[in-house]
Amino acid sequence: MSKDKLVIFDTTLRDGEQSPGASMTRDEKVRIAKMLEKMRVDVIEAGFAIASPGDFEAVKAVAEAITESRVCSLARAVGPDILRAGEALKQANAGRIHTFIATSPIHMQYKLQMQPDEVLEQAVTAVKKARNLTDDVEFSLEDGSRSERDFMYRIIEAVIDAGAGTVNIPDTVGYGEPEEYGEMFRRVIDSVPNSDKAVFSTHCHNDLGLAVANSLSAVIHGARQVECTVNGLGERAGNASLEEIVMAVRTRRDVFAVETGIDPAHIVPTSRLVSTITGFPVQPNKAIVGANAFAHESGIHQDGVLKHRETYEIMRAEDVGWHTNKLVLGKHSGRAAVKARFEELGISFADQGEFNAVFQAFKVLADKKHEIFDEDLQALVSDAGQEAREVYQFEGMEVQCKTGQAPSATITFRALGENRTASSQGSGPVDAVFKAIEKEVHSGADLLLYSVNAITQGTEAQGDVTVRLERGGHLVNGVGADTDIVAASAKAYLNALNLLESDARPHPQRDGV
Ligand code: KIV
Ligand code: ZN
Repeated sequence: MSKDKLVIFDTTLRDGEQSPGASMTRDEKVRIAKMLEKMRVDVIEAGFAIASPGDFEAVKAVAEAITESRVCSLARAVGPDILRAGEALKQANAGRIHTFIATSPIHMQYKLQMQPDEVLEQAVTAVKKARNLTDDVEFSLEDGSRSERDFMYRIIEAVIDAGAGTVNIPDTVGYGEPEEYGEMFRRVIDSVPNSDKAVFSTHCHNDLGLAVANSLSAVIHGARQVECTVNGLGERAGNASLEEIVMAVRTRRDVFAVETGIDPAHIVPTSRLVSTITGFPVQPNKAIVGANAFAHESGIHQDGVLKHRETYEIMRAEDVGWHTNKLVLGKHSGRAAVKARFEELGISFADQGEFNAVFQAFKVLADKKHEIFDEDLQALVSDAGQEAREVYQFEGMEVQCKTGQAPSATITFRALGENRTASSQGSGPVDAVFKAIEKEVHSGADLLLYSVNAITQGTEAQGDVTVRLERGGHLVNGVGADTDIVAASAKAYLNALNLLESDARPHPQRDGV
């Protein structure tokens, strides 16, 4: 029996970015978008064009860089938002304007202070306006799962008549329960006279841990688009996780009457890239992409897997991109081999100069660490790529630690091309390094998060450090990697300062666009 296509709509770059602290620069968004394109995601929601000049530029840059996936911008159901989205998407090979307005009684009364008929009229006007700019328009009923059914049927019929090709009914506040949310789709599809003219879409938040279950229930009841994010990133508790949706549909072909066009081999590398860029580590027991997702600890399980893999494994780790720490390169590897491996990982370079900087960093790392894994290469680009274009650059440091004495650090870094050196004591070596940097920089930022992860296994591994700084309500995540975790910490701190300098844009939706 032939199966319906399930459209995978990734909103990592828009709803995912609404996770506090997960803001991404334009270039980081383009890198993630290229990985999503490789994974064959159908629609990439690149941002909310009117939210800020930075968001506009990011949507535009993604629209220009992506040719295989459709690129989408969010827009409230008002003229200026829609025009801005249309402008950002002008160069897209295939674009979509995604416009929305709230339809639940509580949102209409308190937030919008509008009558239902006014909301309906505004929705129709917005869809028509968007259709003047593009053939592909999606309409979302914000807080749809808490909306009154008869009103929902009326507004859906009207927006489809006005030209919306996709109708999304989000569970905005994560209140839905699988049976009830799925059933709602069935009723909508059966009750709206022109429902056959649109694709119905689900968009679930994870406040009760039900985002994936709710989305899949909607699919069982007729939804043919799922909005989701890599690693389940998203506003508050996050959105439905892309990897879980894709692998559930694929693994339980017997239950779902749909199939996706996703190439799952890119799932793990994409998850890693998103985690590195946002500084949100993936919990070890996270389905599909967690470090333990395919690790069998108990002897009984190990024995079973060795005798017959399918006794305990429902998916194959290699299918989703786990390479079991495949050794790729060493210090004798040449430029061509290094470049080719980067390309296989979906990483390209703007020009020869950028690659040269990364290759030099590769050689330095290969001297310190004999085996270079894919993860090391990924860390190297987030590091070297950033250093090439930033205000502060790490040069070197000296740290002294002795039991019973306060650790002290002296760090040298470049600030706008000038060498700066500062020393400080601290409660630990990392604290001493951060205090020394601040003695020179006086950033006024607060340190909100400091985390260290080993990139690969063993004591030779590189430490991958994330530093989250906040200044005036603006959050950034700096990242740094090195075999010396104190050096990685210094690099991450300087990187965060660079981001504070260069990326002072407000947060989409929250900052009153
Ligand atoms: O959660 C939500 O309702 C949204 C809409 C803007 C689609 O993100
Ligand atoms: Zn959302």
